[in-house]
Amino acid sequence: MKLIILGVAVAILATCEGVTFTRCQLVHQLRKHGFPEAKMRDWVCLVENESSRTTSKVGPVNSNRSRDYGLFQINDKYWCSNTKTPGKDCNVTCADLLTDDITKAASCAKKIFQRHGFNAWYGWKNHCQGALPDISKC
Ligand SMILES: *[C@@H]1O[C@H](CO)[C@@H](O)[C@H](O)[C@H]1NC(C)=O
Ligand SMILES: *[C@@H]1O[C@H](CO)[C@@H](O)[C@H](O)[C@H]1NC(C)=O
Ligand SMILES: *[C@@H]1O[C@H](CO)[C@@H](O)[C@H](O)[C@H]1NC(C)=O
Repeated sequence: MKLIILGVAVAILATCEGVTFTRCQLVHQLRKHGFPEAKMRDWVCLVENESSRTTSKVGPVNSNRSRDYGLFQINDKYWCSNTKTPGKDCNVTCADLLTDDITKAASCAKKIFQRHGFNAWYGWKNHCQGALPDISKC
């Protein structure tokens, strides 16, 4: 019985924790989801600063009471719905942005990029305009 409870607890913990990609795993994921090679190092830099490459990261509540979700730390003010129904500009729930399958987070991030470019992300603005991560081995 104890073992079963432990097993369930570990399983729940595991799903809550999401995955933390290595740098090369992240590159492979981004390639798989069609991010262009020319901007790959910028995206890697952005994700490394925003979420440390962890899919399940939920940011702290911001001063404007919004919150950021997932690998790309996407904000719930405009982009994802904090209800059970998909909505806002990416037509997703915020929970959809925390899954190990990054399909939804990736297409939402691309939509944000189309509208605002990399300047939408402080992690990029403050960190990624100088030296970019080395991905030559990926
Ligand atoms: C992102 O950059 C900020 C400084 O702009 C730094 O304080 C923070 O620790 C960085 N986050 C990560 C996950 O590297
Ligand atoms: C809310 O505050 C956060 C952090 O200060 C910022 O990144 C975000 O753009 C703000 N969102 C809105 C809608 O003002
Ligand atoms: C939003 O996504 C749902 C499926 O999750 C879909 O049925 C609906 O048509 C979409 N709405 C818009 C406005 O794209």
